[in-house]
Amino acid sequence: MESPSLWQERRTAPARPHLPVPENVDDLVVGAGLAGLTTGVLLARAGRKVAVVDARPLGSGTSARTTAKVSLLQGTKLSRLLRRHPPEVARAYVEANRVAQDWLLGFCGRRDVSFQTREAVTYAGSPQQVEATRAEFQAAASLGLPVHWHDSLDVPFETHGAVALGEQAQLDPVALLEALADELIACGGTLHPGERLTAVAMNGEARLDSGARVVADQVVLATGTPVLDRTLCFARLTPSRSYLLAFSGDPGTEQMLISAGSPTRSMRQLPAMGDDRPVFLVGGAGHVVGRAESPRAHLDELRAWTITHFPGATETHAWSAQDYRSLDELPLAGRLAVSGERIHVATGFDKWGMTNAVAAARRIAATILGGVAAPWPESSHPSPGSLLRALGLNLQVAGLLVSDWAEVELGGSTADATVVRHRMVPTVPGEHGGYVGVCTHLGGILHWNDAERTWDCPLHGSRFAPDGEVLEGPATKPLRRRAS
Ligand SMILES: Cc1cc2nc3c(=O)[nH]c(=O)nc-3n(C[C@H](O)[C@H](O)[C@H](O)COP(=O)(O)OP(=O)(O)OC[C@H]3O[C@@H](n4cnc5c(N)ncnc54)[C@H](O)[C@@H]3O)c2cc1C
Ligand code: FES
Repeated sequence: MESPSLWQERRTAPARPHLPVPENVDDLVVGAGLAGLTTGVLLARAGRKVAVVDARPLGSGTSARTTAKVSLLQGTKLSRLLRRHPPEVARAYVEANRVAQDWLLGFCGRRDVSFQTREAVTYAGSPQQVEATRAEFQAAASLGLPVHWHDSLDVPFETHGAVALGEQAQLDPVALLEALADELIACGGTLHPGERLTAVAMNGEARLDSGARVVADQVVLATGTPVLDRTLCFARLTPSRSYLLAFSGDPGTEQMLISAGSPTRSMRQLPAMGDDRPVFLVGGAGHVVGRAESPRAHLDELRAWTITHFPGATETHAWSAQDYRSLDELPLAGRLAVSGERIHVATGFDKWGMTNAVAAARRIAATILGGVAAPWPESSHPSPGSLLRALGLNLQVAGLLVSDWAEVELGGSTADATVVRHRMVPTVPGEHGGYVGVCTHLGGILHWNDAERTWDCPLHGSRFAPDGEVLEGPATKPLRRRAS
């Protein structure tokens, strides 16, 4: 099963009563991560009747498994945006993130969610990364961020210069989710963990796997990648999984660091609690979900790097999480095309959702409430480049689907040896004869994740527990039991 994150293990969950989901609401928000809860709070504050449902207990998704840097300097994001979009789009991105950061830190201040102010740094981890680091410096400066350049950093690993932005922040994301949930309830909203959305009609009628039906004026899908998407939104997203390790020990710096290229190394420290030693996080070693031969090898690579450079540190936690990158690198928030006026989606935060999820929530709430539109980066029309990337991404997905099935049909080893052929149907082990090892979203062959002990789909990133339950991704149904 999935290992808990440091934040999840530190959490003391308050007892909240289990409430039936109301039959009629103004707004049904699906997903109680940062995007969903912030949307719920903004709508409930405006006096609307809001219900937030989540398939899993509060604090199970990516928002509870993140590094939680709240920063406007985001690796090499700004230079990548400027390569693909006109400067005004990149400027709108920075502005949306800046307003979201202010909102979030203001909320934390009012609700006693502690955060620390830190310098954010993107560094060149090798001579090959210097050009990208310099490009990020120029991009950030041209977009009005007061960045500066460090020729060297006081860290025990190789660096070749860095761009830095002061006055950024870091926090405990589970404490933040709890505070947002409390605020939602205080404003009259209701929270319903353990309720999975399985269907939603264009008239706003939603079905949950408990059998409940909810009729909503507006439905917000804040589920990571959108579930139930008629516009194939999931086909425009790449799901990417990354690894995080927590160590007790002093990293020697309080800066929030990330390398400008591959291999990605992301670091941040946490203040010591009481007499404990300080803790620091090391993240990276990412890959597309379901497409790594051995996820455990990725975790081991990160572990080996940390032990080499911080030999006195003691590992306390290891976990992984995933997020979604859109084809044009811009986050997606707004009404789902072709689904009428009632269904909204928030996704594509590209591992920078601490500000982007809040920006998306603000945009969706402004659309529903009317009034002043929240700042938002939008490209006016798909560029030929993004159309080509869409074609390439989906050809790759189609190729994987065909090659994995061909291997199963031919009785080969398949992409993963633990998926076995059983009367022509791939099967994965489990109780009572196992499960059909085929993703319940669109039929991808599942791959074994030896780091988290889960079944992961290489096509659009759905993941399943060994008991067949959906963990995340666009799938909404558990794995089918194998017929005996
Ligand atoms: C390893 C890693 C490190 C990161 N570090 C940073 C960082 O330092 N700074 C930063 O800004 N960003 C970071 N991010 C990105 C950020 O954490 C995410 O973008 C953000 O948390 C996403 O929030 P969300 O609300 O969209 O998704 P989630 O938090 O995943 O919430 C989605 C919720 O929807 C629920 N759900 C799904 N399907 C259904 C359904 N059918 N019915 C009901 N509920 C459903 C899920 O259970 C889940 O609770 C990182 C991401 C990763 C993977
Ligand atoms: S996630 Fe789409 S087929 Fe598995």
